[in-house]
Amino acid sequence: MKIKCLVAGLLLALGLSANAQIVIKFSHVVATDTPKGQASEFFAKRAGELTKGKVKVDVYANSQLYKDKEEMEALQMGAVQMLAPSLAKFGPLGVKEFEVFDFPFLFDNTAELHKVTQGPVGASLLAKLEPKGVKGLAYWDNGFKSFSANSPLKNVADYKGKKFRIQSSKVLEEQIRALAGIPQVMAFSEVYQALQTGVVDGTENPISNLYSQKMHEVQKHLTLTEHGYLGYAVIVNKKFWDGLPPDIRGQLEQAMKEATALANKVAQKDNDDALEGVKKAGKTTVYTPTKDERMALKKVLVPVHAKMADRVGKDLLESIYKETGFDPKKL
Ligand code: LMR
Repeated sequence: MKIKCLVAGLLLALGLSANAQIVIKFSHVVATDTPKGQASEFFAKRAGELTKGKVKVDVYANSQLYKDKEEMEALQMGAVQMLAPSLAKFGPLGVKEFEVFDFPFLFDNTAELHKVTQGPVGASLLAKLEPKGVKGLAYWDNGFKSFSANSPLKNVADYKGKKFRIQSSKVLEEQIRALAGIPQVMAFSEVYQALQTGVVDGTENPISNLYSQKMHEVQKHLTLTEHGYLGYAVIVNKKFWDGLPPDIRGQLEQAMKEATALANKVAQKDNDDALEGVKKAGKTTVYTPTKDERMALKKVLVPVHAKMADRVGKDLLESIYKETGFDPKKL
């Protein structure tokens, strides 16, 4: 009996249940009703179907297992097997190149972004995770971030002196400083309360995140700046992944391929629906900046590229400019 328990314990520690079912814990910080939430649930379903029940994926949404920084540590230790952190959260892991995705106004649309994430540049970035014991499987979209606050954000001067919650990215810190605001790094699960209590004045996120966390209830103003991108890399514990039987790994890769297609398909609609939800709730004034107002913001934020180029690597930045055709000198 004792030996049976010991074996079961050992198998569990390896992510295997006593009847040899492989269990994947997939932790993330957003609500189920978001692009990442939906794609992770879909992956779980397809993983079960394609492996004929040999793999069970348990999805833990809404930071119920871990907050932002903790989940990276948990993945490296093998306490969870799979995550999909935003690309802004890889700097603290020691792979600061991912912060290039935080460069403001770097991408005009998702087609430009996909040239990077679905091409050689994206693949080379994922490869940089391997020495950290982490394997990158895919990129999932969310969308473009907009700024919100409790006072109107029309002109660049409106950002001055305000505290903005940001993700743990040095590029985002510099972005807020360029606006003369005060950046405040904070876990996603803490943002609602920080906005409610006035610990911070505002934040930035795609609307699906704002709405599903009810941030619009504690933000009087939302300006559709769409000034930067927020998306994800789906990552696994490398040791766990490499140790899977090859046929199972192939089936999981297929499930991931399908989940990626779903994530990228629903992202725009989720954000559009969320914006409708914010408008219907009637608690937030939604403002679309004029062409001139958005250009003024762009002129202040694009210099962040030159300032932070060394952090992500000038060559990487140049290779992205080449893919997308963006020229910071032509504004
Ligand atoms: C945030 O912390 O604002 C986002 O990274 C949350 C997420 O995972 O979309």
